[in-house]
Amino acid sequence: MKVAVLGYGTVGVGVCRMLASARGLSLGPVLVREGKATEPFHVTSLDDILADPAVEAVAEVMGGIEPAFTYAARILESGRHFVTANKALCAAHGIELDAIARRTGAAFLFSAACGGGVPFLHNLALAAESDSIRSLSGILNGTTNYMLDAMQSSGLDYGGALKEAQALGYAEADPTADVSGLDAMRKMQLGCAVAFGRLPQTGAACEGIEHLTAEDVKDLQARGLTCRLITRGRPAGKSVSAYVEPTLFPSGAPECSVRKNYNMARYVGENVGPIVLMGQGAGRFPTASAVIRDLSCVLQGQRAMFPVGCSAVEADNSGEEHPYYVRLSPADSRRLPIAKLLSAGESVRAVTEPVSVERMHAIARIIRKDGGDLFFAALEE
Ligand SMILES: NC(=O)c1ccc[n+]([C@@H]2O[C@H](COP(=O)([O-])OP(=O)(O)OC[C@H]3O[C@@H](n4cnc5c(N)ncnc54)[C@H](OP(=O)(O)O)[C@@H]3O)[C@@H](O)[C@H]2O)c1
Repeated sequence: MKVAVLGYGTVGVGVCRMLASARGLSLGPVLVREGKATEPFHVTSLDDILADPAVEAVAEVMGGIEPAFTYAARILESGRHFVTANKALCAAHGIELDAIARRTGAAFLFSAACGGGVPFLHNLALAAESDSIRSLSGILNGTTNYMLDAMQSSGLDYGGALKEAQALGYAEADPTADVSGLDAMRKMQLGCAVAFGRLPQTGAACEGIEHLTAEDVKDLQARGLTCRLITRGRPAGKSVSAYVEPTLFPSGAPECSVRKNYNMARYVGENVGPIVLMGQGAGRFPTASAVIRDLSCVLQGQRAMFPVGCSAVEADNSGEEHPYYVRLSPADSRRLPIAKLLSAGESVRAVTEPVSVERMHAIARIIRKDGGDLFFAALEE
C-alpha cells in the first residue's frame, strides 16, 4: 500500500524512514510547506497527493486543527485511508471524520494520538469489542511526568524542571498544553470515545502541575507521598466523567515507579480486570511506530477505532469524589470542608473531606479568579 505523509518534522521523518522497510507498505509523496522541499519525494500541495491514484493511504503528522481537518476530510472523501498522530484534530473533529470514513469505506485510525508508542488506544479498541470497559486512567503526558520526577528526585523547582525538559526536547517552547493538563485531557477524550462511545467534548476538568512548588514537594516527600499527573475517565450515567489532576500516591504504588518521560495507561475490563501498559509516550520513533502499526492494521482490514454511534457528550464529574491535599491561604481554606489541618501559618496545608471533582475544580477556579494561590492534589486511597 502506497502511503503519502503530511508533515516532515519530528514524527514525519520517523514515519518516512520506517515506511522504507515496513512490510506491505511503501513511501509515497510527502507534503511540506511551500519553499521547504528538499527531497525528490517532497510536494507542497495536497492536490499533488490526491492526483496520484496509486496513493491508497495518508498519514498525517503535521499537527494543529487547520488545515489538518480540511485535508483529512478531503482525503477520506476521496476514499483513501487516513491515519493520524494528531490528538487535537481527533478530539475536536474525530466524530465528523469517523462519519466520512464510514460513508466512503475508508479507514480512520489514530492510535499514535494517545500514548505515542504505547499501544493504548489500539488495545482499548480491541478490548471494547469483546468486554465492557469500566474505567480508564493513567499518566498520559511524558513531559509533566519528567518534570514531576525531576522535582521529586533532583530537588529542582518548577522553572528548573521545565528548562531541563525543554533542553532534552520533551517540552515544547510553549509548554502550556502539557503543563496545564490539556494534552493529557485530549488523550482521555479519545480514550473515552474509543472505550465508551462517548467523547467528552465539553465539561472535562483539567488541573495541571503549574501550581506545584519546591516547598510543596518537600512537604509531600516528608509525608511519604509522590505526585503524578493522573488522567481518568469512566461512564457516568449517559455521560462520562473525565478529568486530569495532580494525584498523590504512597511509596510503593505502581505509579511511583513511572519515571522520567514514561507513560502508564490502564483500563479495567469487566471480565479481564485491570490491564496496564507502560512505555515511551512520545519521541520520533516510538510515535512513528504507532503510525506504522495503524497502517498495518488498515492492511489487515481494520477501518475504525470509535464504536458505531459514538457521540459528543458533556463530561459529568459530579459523582467522582476524593479527599484532597490542599495548600492555600487561611481565608481560602474556609471555602473547603477541611478534615485534617496539617500545618498552619501564612499558608494552610490540609486534607479535605471527600469532595467531588466538579466542586474542587470549581472552587480552585474561584480562588484563583479572586487572586488567591492554591495547589491541590487528589489523595489516592
Ligand atoms: N513529537 C512527538 O513525540 C509526538 C507524540 C505523539 C503525537 N505527536 C503528534 O504528531 C504530530 C506531529 O508532531 P511533531 O512533533 O512531529 O511536530 P513537528 O516536529 O512540529 O512537525 C510537524 C511538521 O509538519 C509541518 N507542517 C505543519 N503544518 C503544515 C502544513 N500546513 N503544510 C505542510 N507542512 C506542515 C511543520 O512544518 P513547519 O516546521 O514549517 O511548521 C513540521 O515540519 C502532532 O499532531 C503531535 O501532537 C507527536
